[in-house]
Amino acid sequence: MRTQVGIVGGGPAGLLLSHLLALRGIDSVVLELRSREYCERRVRAGVLEQGTVDVLTAAGVGERLRREGLPHDGIELRYGGGTHRIAFEKLVPGRNITVYGQQEVVKDLIEARLAAEGKIHFEVDDVRVHDLDGSPYITYGDGQRLDCDVIAGCDGFHGVTRASIPEDALTTFQRDYPFAWLGVLARVPPSAEELIYARTPKGFALHSMRSPEVSRFYLQVPTDTREEDWPDERIWAELKERLSTVPGFTLHTGPILEKSVTPMRSFVTEPMRHGKLFLAGDAAHIVPPTGAKGLNLAVADVTVLTDALAHWYATGETGLLDSYSATCLRRVWRAQHFSWWMTHLLHTFDDEDAYGERLQTSYLDYVTSSEAAATTLAENYVGMALGRL
Ligand code: FAD
Ligand code: DHB
Repeated sequence: MRTQVGIVGGGPAGLLLSHLLALRGIDSVVLELRSREYCERRVRAGVLEQGTVDVLTAAGVGERLRREGLPHDGIELRYGGGTHRIAFEKLVPGRNITVYGQQEVVKDLIEARLAAEGKIHFEVDDVRVHDLDGSPYITYGDGQRLDCDVIAGCDGFHGVTRASIPEDALTTFQRDYPFAWLGVLARVPPSAEELIYARTPKGFALHSMRSPEVSRFYLQVPTDTREEDWPDERIWAELKERLSTVPGFTLHTGPILEKSVTPMRSFVTEPMRHGKLFLAGDAAHIVPPTGAKGLNLAVADVTVLTDALAHWYATGETGLLDSYSATCLRRVWRAQHFSWWMTHLLHTFDDEDAYGERLQTSYLDYVTSSEAAATTLAENYVGMALGRL
Protein backbone atom coordinates (compact mmCIF):
# COMPACT_ATOMS: atom_id res chain seq x y z
CA MET A 1 0.00 0.00 0.00
CA ARG A 2 1.17 3.53 -0.69
CA THR A 3 0.03 6.94 0.54
CA GLN A 4 1.47 10.43 0.77
CA VAL A 5 1.34 10.84 4.57
CA GLY A 6 1.36 7.79 6.85
CA ILE A 7 -0.24 8.76 10.18
CA VAL A 8 0.42 6.68 13.29
CA GLY A 9 -2.34 7.21 15.89
CA GLY A 10 -6.01 8.06 15.51
CA GLY A 11 -6.47 10.44 18.45
CA PRO A 12 -7.41 14.09 17.90
CA ALA A 13 -4.01 14.91 16.34
CA GLY A 14 -3.94 12.05 13.81
CA LEU A 15 -7.60 12.27 12.82
CA LEU A 16 -7.59 16.04 12.39
CA LEU A 17 -4.34 15.93 10.41
CA SER A 18 -5.84 13.36 8.06
CA HIS A 19 -8.95 15.50 7.64
CA LEU A 20 -7.04 18.78 7.06
CA LEU A 21 -4.73 17.10 4.55
CA ALA A 22 -7.70 15.70 2.63
CA LEU A 23 -9.11 19.24 2.36
CA ARG A 24 -5.83 20.19 0.63
CA GLY A 25 -6.01 17.19 -1.69
CA ILE A 26 -3.31 15.21 0.15
CA ASP A 27 -3.81 11.50 0.70
CA SER A 28 -3.15 9.86 4.06
CA VAL A 29 -3.74 6.61 5.96
CA VAL A 30 -4.32 6.51 9.74
CA LEU A 31 -3.11 3.45 11.67
CA GLU A 32 -4.73 3.20 15.13
CA LEU A 33 -3.97 0.61 17.79
CA ARG A 34 -7.40 0.64 19.45
CA SER A 35 -10.94 -0.05 18.22
CA ARG A 36 -13.22 2.73 16.98
CA GLU A 37 -15.51 2.17 20.00
CA TYR A 38 -12.59 2.51 22.42
CA CYS A 39 -11.39 5.76 20.83
CA GLU A 40 -14.89 7.22 20.87
CA ARG A 41 -15.46 6.33 24.50
CA ARG A 42 -12.13 7.48 25.97
CA VAL A 43 -13.08 10.34 28.36
CA ARG A 44 -10.44 13.05 28.50
CA ALA A 45 -10.21 16.76 27.78
CA GLY A 46 -13.13 19.14 27.67
CA VAL A 47 -11.92 22.70 27.12
CA LEU A 48 -11.49 23.95 23.56
CA GLU A 49 -9.75 27.25 22.97
CA GLN A 50 -11.26 29.74 20.57
CA GLY A 51 -8.54 28.93 18.02
CA THR A 52 -9.36 25.21 18.22
CA VAL A 53 -13.07 25.87 17.66
CA ASP A 54 -12.15 28.09 14.70
CA VAL A 55 -9.96 25.38 13.13
CA LEU A 56 -12.65 22.68 13.55
CA THR A 57 -15.35 24.99 12.20
CA ALA A 58 -13.30 26.06 9.16
CA ALA A 59 -12.58 22.37 8.48
CA GLY A 60 -16.31 21.60 8.33
CA VAL A 61 -16.40 19.49 11.50
CA GLY A 62 -17.85 22.16 13.80
CA GLU A 63 -21.57 21.61 13.22
CA ARG A 64 -22.37 19.50 16.33
CA LEU A 65 -19.77 21.45 18.31
CA ARG A 66 -21.70 24.65 17.54
CA ARG A 67 -25.00 23.05 18.57
CA GLU A 68 -23.91 21.10 21.65
CA GLY A 69 -20.73 22.87 22.83
CA LEU A 70 -21.06 25.13 25.85
CA PRO A 71 -19.36 28.53 25.36
CA HIS A 72 -17.91 29.97 28.58
CA ASP A 73 -16.91 33.58 29.17
CA GLY A 74 -15.15 33.04 32.49
CA ILE A 75 -13.91 30.64 35.15
CA GLU A 76 -14.03 30.74 38.93
CA LEU A 77 -11.02 30.51 41.24
CA ARG A 78 -12.06 29.34 44.71
CA TYR A 79 -9.74 29.44 47.72
CA GLY A 80 -9.52 30.68 51.29
CA GLY A 81 -13.29 30.68 51.76
CA GLY A 82 -13.90 33.01 48.80
CA THR A 83 -14.66 32.67 45.10
CA HIS A 84 -13.44 34.97 42.33
CA ARG A 85 -14.43 35.18 38.70
CA ILE A 86 -11.89 35.62 35.89
CA ALA A 87 -14.07 37.41 33.34
CA PHE A 88 -12.88 36.69 29.80
CA GLU A 89 -15.45 39.04 28.27
CA LYS A 90 -13.85 41.95 30.11
CA LEU A 91 -10.19 40.88 30.13
CA VAL A 92 -9.87 39.40 26.62
CA PRO A 93 -12.92 40.80 24.79
CA GLY A 94 -14.24 38.69 21.94
CA ARG A 95 -12.43 35.54 23.02
CA ASN A 96 -13.68 32.62 25.09
CA ILE A 97 -13.54 28.83 25.45
CA THR A 98 -16.01 26.10 24.61
CA VAL A 99 -16.65 23.04 26.77
CA TYR A 100 -17.07 20.02 24.45
CA GLY A 101 -15.75 16.56 25.25
CA GLN A 102 -12.64 15.34 23.44
CA GLN A 103 -14.40 12.10 22.59
CA GLU A 104 -17.09 14.13 20.84
CA VAL A 105 -14.37 15.79 18.72
CA VAL A 106 -12.99 12.32 17.98
CA LYS A 107 -16.47 11.02 16.99
CA ASP A 108 -17.03 14.01 14.68
CA LEU A 109 -13.64 13.54 13.01
CA ILE A 110 -14.04 9.78 12.53
CA GLU A 111 -17.47 10.31 11.02
CA ALA A 112 -16.17 13.00 8.66
CA ARG A 113 -13.20 10.88 7.57
CA LEU A 114 -15.26 7.77 6.94
CA ALA A 115 -17.98 9.76 5.10
CA ALA A 116 -15.23 11.03 2.75
CA GLU A 117 -13.89 7.47 2.34
CA GLY A 118 -10.80 8.40 4.31
CA LYS A 119 -8.63 5.48 5.34
CA ILE A 120 -8.50 4.73 9.07
CA HIS A 121 -7.34 1.25 10.11
CA PHE A 122 -8.39 0.46 13.68
CA GLU A 123 -6.97 -2.27 15.91
CA VAL A 124 -3.65 -2.32 14.08
CA ASP A 125 -0.86 -3.75 16.19
CA ASP A 126 2.93 -3.94 16.04
CA VAL A 127 3.34 -0.64 14.17
CA ARG A 128 6.97 0.14 13.33
CA VAL A 129 8.46 3.01 11.34
CA HIS A 130 11.46 2.52 9.02
CA ASP A 131 14.02 4.39 6.88
CA LEU A 132 13.18 7.79 8.34
CA ASP A 133 16.04 9.48 6.47
CA GLY A 134 15.37 7.83 3.13
CA SER A 135 12.17 6.35 1.73
CA PRO A 136 10.04 5.96 4.83
CA TYR A 137 7.61 3.12 5.34
CA ILE A 138 5.53 1.66 8.13
CA THR A 139 5.06 -2.03 8.89
CA TYR A 140 2.23 -3.39 11.01
CA GLY A 141 0.07 -6.42 11.76
CA ASP A 142 1.34 -9.64 10.22
CA GLY A 143 3.53 -8.34 7.45
CA GLN A 144 1.57 -5.37 6.08
CA ARG A 145 3.56 -2.44 4.70
CA LEU A 146 2.63 1.18 4.02
CA ASP A 147 5.04 3.26 1.91
CA CYS A 148 4.78 7.02 2.26
CA ASP A 149 6.51 10.35 1.55
CA VAL A 150 6.50 11.35 5.23
CA ILE A 151 5.27 9.87 8.51
CA ALA A 152 3.30 11.79 11.16
CA GLY A 153 3.81 10.47 14.68
CA CYS A 154 0.46 11.22 16.36
CA ASP A 155 0.49 8.22 18.68
CA GLY A 156 0.46 9.98 22.06
CA PHE A 157 2.95 9.91 24.89
CA HIS A 158 3.29 6.10 25.05
CA GLY A 159 3.41 5.56 21.29
CA VAL A 160 6.12 4.01 19.13
CA THR A 161 7.15 6.85 16.84
CA ARG A 162 9.12 9.02 19.28
CA ALA A 163 10.69 5.86 20.69
CA SER A 164 11.95 4.97 17.19
CA ILE A 165 14.15 8.07 17.00
CA PRO A 166 17.76 7.50 18.08
CA GLU A 167 18.12 8.83 21.62
CA ASP A 168 21.03 11.11 20.79
CA ALA A 169 18.96 12.88 18.11
CA LEU A 170 16.49 14.28 20.65
CA THR A 171 16.66 16.45 23.74
CA THR A 172 13.89 15.90 26.27
CA PHE A 173 12.72 18.10 29.13
CA GLN A 174 10.60 16.66 31.91
CA ARG A 175 8.93 17.40 35.27
CA ASP A 176 6.89 14.86 37.20
CA TYR A 177 4.47 16.08 39.86
CA PRO A 178 4.01 14.39 43.24
CA PHE A 179 0.26 13.85 42.73
CA ALA A 180 -2.28 12.63 40.17
CA TRP A 181 -5.82 13.57 39.14
CA LEU A 182 -8.84 11.38 39.70
CA GLY A 183 -11.24 12.24 36.86
CA VAL A 184 -14.94 11.59 37.43
CA LEU A 185 -17.87 11.73 35.02
CA ALA A 186 -21.33 11.83 36.65
CA ARG A 187 -24.90 11.91 35.41
CA VAL A 188 -25.89 15.02 37.32
CA PRO A 189 -26.56 18.60 36.20
CA PRO A 190 -23.59 20.96 36.78
CA SER A 191 -23.67 22.66 40.18
CA ALA A 192 -22.48 25.99 38.73
CA GLU A 193 -22.62 27.64 35.33
CA GLU A 194 -18.86 27.93 34.97
CA LEU A 195 -15.74 25.85 35.68
CA ILE A 196 -14.49 26.11 39.27
CA TYR A 197 -10.79 25.65 40.02
CA ALA A 198 -10.53 25.19 43.79
CA ARG A 199 -7.45 25.21 46.00
CA THR A 200 -8.07 23.79 49.46
CA PRO A 201 -5.85 22.54 52.29
CA LYS A 202 -6.88 18.99 51.25
CA GLY A 203 -5.81 19.52 47.66
CA PHE A 204 -7.09 20.76 44.32
CA ALA A 205 -10.58 20.13 42.93
CA LEU A 206 -12.14 21.08 39.60
CA HIS A 207 -15.81 21.34 38.73
CA SER A 208 -16.48 21.06 35.00
CA MET A 209 -19.26 19.70 32.81
CA ARG A 210 -20.16 18.04 29.54
CA SER A 211 -23.83 18.96 29.07
CA PRO A 212 -26.80 20.26 31.06
CA GLU A 213 -27.17 16.68 32.39
CA VAL A 214 -23.57 15.54 32.84
CA SER A 215 -20.85 16.93 35.14
CA ARG A 216 -17.11 16.34 35.08
CA PHE A 217 -14.90 16.60 38.17
CA TYR A 218 -11.24 16.19 39.02
CA LEU A 219 -9.61 15.67 42.43
CA GLN A 220 -5.94 15.92 43.31
CA VAL A 221 -4.96 12.47 44.68
CA PRO A 222 -1.70 10.71 45.61
CA THR A 223 0.28 9.23 42.70
CA ASP A 224 -0.27 5.63 43.86
CA THR A 225 -4.08 6.03 43.89
CA ARG A 226 -6.14 3.14 42.51
CA GLU A 227 -9.68 3.64 41.23
CA GLU A 228 -10.90 0.96 43.70
CA ASP A 229 -9.75 3.20 46.57
CA TRP A 230 -12.44 5.68 45.60
CA PRO A 231 -15.97 4.30 45.96
CA ASP A 232 -18.66 6.77 44.88
CA GLU A 233 -19.51 7.94 48.42
CA ARG A 234 -15.89 8.84 49.07
CA ILE A 235 -15.70 10.83 45.83
CA TRP A 236 -18.82 12.85 46.65
CA ALA A 237 -17.70 13.49 50.23
CA GLU A 238 -14.31 14.74 49.06
CA LEU A 239 -15.76 16.89 46.26
CA LYS A 240 -18.20 18.42 48.74
CA GLU A 241 -15.44 19.21 51.18
CA ARG A 242 -13.21 20.82 48.54
CA LEU A 243 -15.88 22.67 46.51
CA SER A 244 -18.60 23.62 49.01
CA THR A 245 -16.41 26.24 50.66
CA VAL A 246 -18.50 29.31 49.94
CA PRO A 247 -21.99 30.25 51.13
CA GLY A 248 -24.79 29.48 48.71
CA PHE A 249 -23.01 26.70 46.80
CA THR A 250 -24.58 23.24 46.78
CA LEU A 251 -22.89 20.34 45.07
CA HIS A 252 -25.42 18.18 43.20
CA THR A 253 -24.69 14.46 43.34
CA GLY A 254 -25.77 11.59 41.08
CA PRO A 255 -24.67 8.30 39.53
CA ILE A 256 -20.97 8.13 38.63
CA LEU A 257 -20.49 6.95 35.04
CA GLU A 258 -16.70 6.72 34.81
CA LYS A 259 -13.58 7.34 36.88
CA SER A 260 -9.88 7.19 36.04
CA VAL A 261 -6.53 8.28 37.46
CA THR A 262 -4.15 10.40 35.36
CA PRO A 263 -0.53 11.04 36.27
CA MET A 264 0.64 14.65 36.09
CA ARG A 265 3.67 15.36 33.97
CA SER A 266 5.35 18.04 31.91
CA PHE A 267 7.40 16.79 28.95
CA VAL A 268 8.86 18.26 25.74
CA THR A 269 10.89 16.66 22.95
CA GLU A 270 13.11 18.81 20.78
CA PRO A 271 13.10 18.88 17.85
CA MET A 272 9.64 17.60 16.94
CA ARG A 273 11.07 16.07 13.79
CA HIS A 274 13.57 13.43 12.77
CA GLY A 275 14.22 13.13 9.03
CA LYS A 276 10.86 12.41 7.42
CA LEU A 277 9.10 11.69 10.73
CA PHE A 278 7.14 14.62 12.21
CA LEU A 279 5.83 14.34 15.78
CA ALA A 280 2.57 16.08 16.74
CA GLY A 281 0.45 16.36 19.89
CA ASP A 282 1.13 14.24 22.97
CA ALA A 283 3.75 12.22 21.05
CA ALA A 284 5.96 15.31 21.27
CA HIS A 285 4.85 17.04 24.47
CA ILE A 286 2.70 16.60 27.57
CA VAL A 287 1.34 19.21 29.96
CA PRO A 288 -0.36 18.69 33.31
CA PRO A 289 -4.09 19.17 32.61
CA THR A 290 -4.58 22.14 34.98
CA GLY A 291 -4.27 24.64 32.11
CA ALA A 292 -6.47 22.59 29.72
CA LYS A 293 -3.88 22.88 26.96
CA GLY A 294 -3.01 19.37 25.68
CA LEU A 295 -5.73 18.89 23.09
CA ASN A 296 -5.41 22.50 21.96
CA LEU A 297 -1.68 22.07 21.38
CA ALA A 298 -2.33 18.91 19.35
CA VAL A 299 -4.72 20.89 17.12
CA ALA A 300 -2.20 23.73 16.74
CA ASP A 301 0.61 21.29 15.77
CA VAL A 302 -1.35 19.57 13.02
CA THR A 303 -2.55 22.92 11.66
CA VAL A 304 1.07 24.02 11.25
CA LEU A 305 2.04 20.62 9.81
CA THR A 306 -0.79 20.70 7.26
CA ASP A 307 0.31 24.11 5.97
CA ALA A 308 3.92 22.94 5.76
CA LEU A 309 3.07 19.74 3.89
CA ALA A 310 0.65 21.50 1.53
CA HIS A 311 3.31 24.09 0.70
CA TRP A 312 5.89 21.36 0.06
CA TYR A 313 3.58 19.36 -2.20
CA ALA A 314 2.58 22.50 -4.11
CA THR A 315 6.06 24.03 -4.59
CA GLY A 316 8.71 21.47 -3.65
CA GLU A 317 10.09 23.97 -1.13
CA THR A 318 10.97 22.55 2.27
CA GLY A 319 11.10 25.86 4.20
CA LEU A 320 7.91 25.39 6.22
CA LEU A 321 8.70 21.75 6.95
CA ASP A 322 12.14 22.82 8.15
CA SER A 323 10.64 25.40 10.50
CA TYR A 324 7.77 23.12 11.67
CA SER A 325 9.41 22.17 14.95
CA ALA A 326 10.54 25.68 15.89
CA THR A 327 7.15 27.16 15.00
CA CYS A 328 5.29 24.64 17.17
CA LEU A 329 7.74 24.81 20.06
CA ARG A 330 7.09 28.51 20.66
CA ARG A 331 3.44 27.75 21.44
CA VAL A 332 4.35 24.52 23.23
CA TRP A 333 6.68 26.30 25.65
CA ARG A 334 4.12 29.03 26.38
CA ALA A 335 1.60 26.30 27.24
CA GLN A 336 4.26 24.46 29.25
CA HIS A 337 4.87 27.49 31.38
CA PHE A 338 1.18 28.29 31.81
CA SER A 339 0.28 24.68 32.76
CA TRP A 340 3.19 24.42 35.20
CA TRP A 341 2.20 27.78 36.73
CA MET A 342 -1.51 26.90 37.10
CA THR A 343 -0.51 23.56 38.61
CA HIS A 344 1.75 25.22 41.18
CA LEU A 345 -0.83 27.89 41.97
CA LEU A 346 -3.65 25.47 42.75
CA HIS A 347 -2.28 22.20 44.16
CA THR A 348 -0.97 21.31 47.59
CA PHE A 349 2.60 20.03 47.64
CA ASP A 350 3.55 17.68 50.50
CA ASP A 351 7.07 19.06 50.58
CA GLU A 352 5.87 22.66 50.63
CA ASP A 353 6.43 24.56 53.88
CA ALA A 354 4.31 27.41 55.23
CA TYR A 355 6.39 29.90 53.23
CA GLY A 356 5.47 28.20 49.95
CA GLU A 357 1.82 28.15 50.92
CA ARG A 358 1.88 31.90 51.68
CA LEU A 359 3.46 32.60 48.28
CA GLN A 360 0.67 30.63 46.60
CA THR A 361 -2.00 32.59 48.47
CA SER A 362 -0.27 35.85 47.69
CA TYR A 363 -0.29 35.06 43.97
CA LEU A 364 -3.93 33.98 44.06
CA ASP A 365 -4.78 37.26 45.80
CA TYR A 366 -2.85 39.12 43.10
CA VAL A 367 -4.56 37.29 40.21
CA THR A 368 -7.99 37.91 41.72
CA SER A 369 -7.47 41.60 42.50
CA SER A 370 -5.22 43.00 39.75
CA GLU A 371 -6.58 43.36 36.24
CA ALA A 372 -3.07 42.99 34.81
CA ALA A 373 -2.50 39.66 36.58
CA ALA A 374 -5.99 38.40 35.74
CA THR A 375 -5.46 39.33 32.08
CA THR A 376 -2.29 37.21 32.01
CA LEU A 377 -4.30 34.21 33.19
CA ALA A 378 -7.24 34.91 30.87
CA GLU A 379 -5.10 35.47 27.76
CA ASN A 380 -3.25 32.21 28.27
CA TYR A 381 -6.37 30.25 29.23
CA VAL A 382 -8.38 31.22 26.13
CA GLY A 383 -5.22 30.63 24.06
CA MET A 384 -2.90 32.87 22.13
CA ALA A 385 -4.19 33.47 18.60
CA LEU A 386 -2.51 31.23 15.99
CA GLY A 387 0.28 33.20 14.41
CA ARG A 388 0.88 35.41 17.45
CA LEU A 389 3.18 32.78 18.88
P1 FAD B 1 -3.84 10.85 22.04
O1 FAD B 1 -5.19 11.38 22.31
O2 FAD B 1 -3.11 10.15 23.12
O3 FAD B 1 -3.97 9.90 20.78
C1 FAD B 1 -2.94 8.99 20.40
C2 FAD B 1 -3.57 7.84 19.66
O4 FAD B 1 -2.54 6.96 19.22
C3 FAD B 1 -4.49 7.02 20.54
O5 FAD B 1 -5.72 6.83 19.89
C4 FAD B 1 -3.74 5.72 20.76
O6 FAD B 1 -4.61 4.62 20.92
C5 FAD B 1 -2.91 5.63 19.49
N1 FAD B 1 -1.70 4.84 19.63
C6 FAD B 1 -0.86 4.77 20.71
N2 FAD B 1 0.15 3.91 20.46
C7 FAD B 1 -0.03 3.48 19.20
C8 FAD B 1 0.69 2.57 18.39
N3 FAD B 1 1.78 1.95 18.84
N4 FAD B 1 0.24 2.32 17.14
C9 FAD B 1 -0.90 2.94 16.69
N5 FAD B 1 -1.63 3.80 17.42
C10 FAD B 1 -1.20 4.06 18.66
N6 FAD B 1 -6.30 18.90 26.94
C11 FAD B 1 -6.98 20.05 26.71
O7 FAD B 1 -6.64 20.75 25.74
N7 FAD B 1 -8.00 20.49 27.49
C12 FAD B 1 -8.38 19.79 28.58
O8 FAD B 1 -9.35 20.19 29.22
C13 FAD B 1 -7.67 18.58 28.89
N8 FAD B 1 -8.00 17.84 29.94
C14 FAD B 1 -7.44 16.62 30.12
C15 FAD B 1 -7.85 15.85 31.19
C16 FAD B 1 -7.30 14.59 31.37
C17 FAD B 1 -7.76 13.78 32.55
C18 FAD B 1 -6.33 14.08 30.46
C19 FAD B 1 -5.75 12.69 30.62
C20 FAD B 1 -5.90 14.84 29.42
C21 FAD B 1 -6.43 16.11 29.23
N9 FAD B 1 -6.02 16.92 28.19
C22 FAD B 1 -6.63 18.13 28.00
C23 FAD B 1 -4.98 16.46 27.27
C24 FAD B 1 -5.53 15.84 25.98
O9 FAD B 1 -6.47 14.82 26.28
C25 FAD B 1 -4.38 15.28 25.14
O10 FAD B 1 -3.40 16.27 25.02
C26 FAD B 1 -4.85 14.83 23.74
O11 FAD B 1 -5.50 13.58 23.84
C27 FAD B 1 -3.68 14.71 22.76
O12 FAD B 1 -4.13 14.17 21.54
P2 FAD B 1 -3.17 13.29 20.65
O13 FAD B 1 -3.96 12.92 19.44
O14 FAD B 1 -1.87 13.95 20.49
O15 FAD B 1 -2.86 12.00 21.54
C1 DHB C 1 -11.52 19.84 31.94
C2 DHB C 1 -10.24 19.33 31.96
C3 DHB C 1 -9.20 20.12 32.33
O1 DHB C 1 -7.95 19.63 32.35
C4 DHB C 1 -9.40 21.45 32.70
O2 DHB C 1 -8.34 22.20 33.09
C5 DHB C 1 -10.67 21.96 32.69
C6 DHB C 1 -11.74 21.15 32.29
C7 DHB C 1 -12.64 18.97 31.53
O3 DHB C 1 -12.39 17.79 31.25
O4 DHB C 1 -13.79 19.43 31.48
